Amino acid sequence: MLEVNHEGTYNPKPLNGWAHYLVMMALKVCEMWDAFCILLSHLLIIFSGPEKVRNNIVIATKFAAYPWRLTPGQLVNACKSSLERMQIEQIGIGQLHWSTANYAPPQELALWDGLVAMYEKGLVQAVGVSNYGPKQLVKVHNYLKARGVPLCSAQVQFSLLSIGEDQMDIKNICDSLGIRLISYSPLGLGMLTGKYTPSNLPRGPRGLLFSQIIPGLEPLLNSLREIAQRRQKTVPQVAINWCICKGTIPIPGVKSVRQAEENLGALGWRLTLDELLHLEDSARESPRKMLQNIFQTR
Ligand SMILES: NC(=O)c1ccc[n+]([C@@H]2O[C@H](COP(=O)([O-])OP(=O)(O)OC[C@H]3O[C@@H](n4cnc5c(N)ncnc54)[C@H](OP(=O)(O)O)[C@@H]3O)[C@@H](O)[C@H]2O)c1
Repeated sequence: MLEVNHEGTYNPKPLNGWAHYLVMMALKVCEMWDAFCILLSHLLIIFSGPEKVRNNIVIATKFAAYPWRLTPGQLVNACKSSLERMQIEQIGIGQLHWSTANYAPPQELALWDGLVAMYEKGLVQAVGVSNYGPKQLVKVHNYLKARGVPLCSAQVQFSLLSIGEDQMDIKNICDSLGIRLISYSPLGLGMLTGKYTPSNLPRGPRGLLFSQIIPGLEPLLNSLREIAQRRQKTVPQVAINWCICKGTIPIPGVKSVRQAEENLGALGWRLTLDELLHLEDSARESPRKMLQNIFQTR
């Protein structure tokens, strides 16, 4: 029999014969298991320790253009707080979440200066923007360039459900200026996984949006399924691979390890040109597309 005292340590009472033997054996096994776990954690630190793991991970994060962030220093402070919360010394890409050009142009300059300051202080390895339209993207690129800061990335909603003239203009500008396009919501918030139907919608606001778009999505979903089956891939993997084939860096959202593992299967292969065109033709048949982000500028 074992008693756990108030300090949480073992306090064995004397037992006789087999009972004593069995308890002592169990204790030995526990001790060995503890020792094994400690050894394992040390080995993990030695062979893939925090530094090594961190060196291989690039963390990109966005800074919201809140109305009270009016000076470059406020953006820098937001960046320092993020670093503290994440317990890291440098962020991979610090991105401005949206442009205030449409409603508060003077704030926009302060935010751009904030990006410059973050970069100069070494708080971020690179800077990026998000929800910038073609015109504003060229402006911010030129402004940062004049301050000696390269614009590394532009994040935009880009998927088989969100591909129009604006997206292609942005892509062309990115290509000509050496900016990488990061495609957000590459799975159309989940619609391009094929698991939702008019009678199986997610709960909450997504359900409302999906109920408007999914009824016309059959041709696209059928093409995705057909290609997935032929290639022995899954529907989300094909949808994400399409973004990669268009020269973008997709950042699919996930809710479980299973989804993360599945989405990794979008790497290491490419759709053919015929498959890409087939998917794009089917996408054009969808009567309704994704809503554009309200913060997207021209
Ligand atoms: N810059 C911006 O303004 C902006 C705006 C929006 C998003 N983003 C970024 O974009 C990234 C992701 O986009 P998102 O989450 O909006 O949309 P998404 O990537 O198009 O869809 C993600 C959702 O699809 C479902 N899913 C993902 N993988 C799946 C799989 N293998 N099988 C089945 N279902 C799967 C999951 O939801 P369920 O399981 O619940 O269906 C998941 O949350 C995030 O990093 C986010 O920060 C940026």
